[in-house]
Amino acid sequence: MKILVTGGTGYIGSHTVVRLIENKYDVVMLDNLSNSKKDVVDKIDVVIVDNLSNSKEDVVDKIQTITKVKPIFYKADLLDKDAVSKIVKKEKPDAVIHFAGLKAVGESVEQPLRYYHNNITGTVNLLEVMAENGIKDFVFSSSATVYGNPKSVPINENFPLSTTNPYGATKLMIENILRDLYNSDTSMNIAILRYFNPVGAHKSGLIGENPNGIPNNLVPYMMQVAAGKLDYLRVFGDDYKTKDGTGVRDYIHVEDLAEGHLLALKKLKEKPGIVTYNLGTGVGYSVLEMVKEFSSVLGRDLPYKIIARRPGDIDACYADTALAKKEIGFEAKRGLHDMFKDGWNFQKNS
Ligand code: NAD
Ligand code: UFG
Repeated sequence: MKILVTGGTGYIGSHTVVRLIENKYDVVMLDNLSNSKKDVVDKIDVVIVDNLSNSKEDVVDKIQTITKVKPIFYKADLLDKDAVSKIVKKEKPDAVIHFAGLKAVGESVEQPLRYYHNNITGTVNLLEVMAENGIKDFVFSSSATVYGNPKSVPINENFPLSTTNPYGATKLMIENILRDLYNSDTSMNIAILRYFNPVGAHKSGLIGENPNGIPNNLVPYMMQVAAGKLDYLRVFGDDYKTKDGTGVRDYIHVEDLAEGHLLALKKLKEKPGIVTYNLGTGVGYSVLEMVKEFSSVLGRDLPYKIIARRPGDIDACYADTALAKKEIGFEAKRGLHDMFKDGWNFQKNS
């Protein structure tokens, strides 16, 4: 089996590539007469396509150090449809996992056209090339951001969808494109995965999240405070309707998230169609609980100050994980302690 991974040198993509290379699993395929046939996938070849706009090529070497296998890598932009077409014709992948996209909420408000062009046009180009080459299996990185400001928690996959910024709008629009595409061609196999808050790093400390400049997200910011690059964590508000007033989120270890992609791929082989799953832990932690846990991993207090709310933030967001558990057996195994331990290990190495 050969899988094309767009955005495969990025944060979540690189962890998923490692997991794909290390994988071996059984697939039970159903044909349209409901006869089942068992197939063992014992080798997955990975082809990465990334324009390196938010990652570095040395991630490919790090993946090789971890797995002893060097994935095929193409530096290419999904906006360059001819380039993508040539790669697909040459490599003939069986399935595509599509991570590539721009993801900074604030930047998307400042540069909406860049976000719409990159994320939407890039995805449409990719889907067109897949159609031209008869590739049917597609896994897409969506986000809990498509639930907007949820009326209650935990959030299940049937909650109403809405968005509050251009980044979120690109995710919802791509989901809609995929649903329309499936309606037009029911031989497509599509998994839409809505990630909650991915954090942590590979246990080797070789790959992880290394944002340019001052991080926007909580855990990368905490890491830089611990490393002495920033003075203290700014806790955005303590008057939310949550257990201690600070925002509550569903943080999921990136290695657990990577596993979810494998399970989704397996599902598409076994039972074709279109599926949508939340990938989270089902447990929400407040910002102050995060500070407490990281301080215990560090063995010292992480300095913080409570400041005003960040505009656009919501009280609480965590997943109802029942559907992914029932249908693909997905269950996050790693807790907060591992997320901070592995994230800090990576931070110290970088
Ligand atoms: P990332 O920025 O680390 O990885 C994305 C990769 O895509 C980068 O390596 C970048 O260079 C590449 N890329 C961007 N545009 C491209 C293009 N036009 N052509 C080729 N390559 C391109 O981000 P990540 O955190 O690994 O996120 C992966 C996916 O998951 C994204 O689609 C993101 O929106 C989604 N997601 C992320 C989070 C999160 O908190 N990290 C949460 C929900 C969903
Ligand atoms: N927070 C702070 N200080 C910081 C950063 C964050 O107190 O310096 C707080 C926020 O107010 C929030 C929590 O920490 O309560 C988490 O904030 P993040 O920025 O880490 O994550 P968000 O849940 O706001 O957003 C993330 C991604 C979005 C994605 C969303 C749902 O950034 O792109 O998860 O998947 F849409």
